[in-house]
Amino acid sequence: MKQTGGSDEAKRRAGASAAQLPEDGDVVGVGTGSTAAYAIRTLGERVDAGLDIRGIPTSYQSRALAREAGIPLTTLDDDSVDIAIDGADQVAEAGTLVKGGGAAHAREKLVDTDADRFVVVADPTKLVEQLDVPVPVELLPEARRPVIDAVEQAGGKPTLRAAKRKDGPVVTDNGNFVLDCAFGTVDDPSGLARTLETTPGVVEHGLFVGLVDEVHVGSEDGVERREC
Ligand code: A5P
Repeated sequence: MKQTGGSDEAKRRAGASAAQLPEDGDVVGVGTGSTAAYAIRTLGERVDAGLDIRGIPTSYQSRALAREAGIPLTTLDDDSVDIAIDGADQVAEAGTLVKGGGAAHAREKLVDTDADRFVVVADPTKLVEQLDVPVPVELLPEARRPVIDAVEQAGGKPTLRAAKRKDGPVVTDNGNFVLDCAFGTVDDPSGLARTLETTPGVVEHGLFVGLVDEVHVGSEDGVERREC
């Protein structure tokens, strides 16, 4: 799993806090990343203790962790999501997110959007006034040159995400590539989201606008819950 800035204790507290929310009968969207992994572990402990839930994973990684934790799984074909718990790379004051640091944002957006309630788990290093990290854009491999052109035209600097311990690019769980697109401070997340999602060849981008219901921010000694 990739390493991100916050402390393990802060991530653990955020994940464990959100994992208290699902109730018997719920279908739970199971997020990806190091913070969501703590939520998965706590959900697994609650399932051991008798909680009756089913999970819908957002990636290969979260599926593997959920299975290991003993969470029964289902699919979007069979069920809709009551509550999704997922991490983020940046959380802006308005509850707008950048996701996709682990290249899982396409399935994450699918599952998190389907949820009646979407809860983000984060540590304080993720909180910002305005989003300013590069926006991950998953694209069809054939669309690399045209999507690079479109991102540059929109004022971004795209970098094809390179794999570690494999020559060449990262290939997502869906068989696609990822461009990390630096736009500087994102003043108009909705406008940029529209531009990216209307670019042919783009499968999904990592801007999550108007989706979040609450954020659980863990720290060394507690959890702050913010409604969005
Ligand atoms: C996966 O692609 C991402 O959207 C993750 O949810 C995000 O990168 C947060 O991961 P961490 O909790 O490991 O920082």
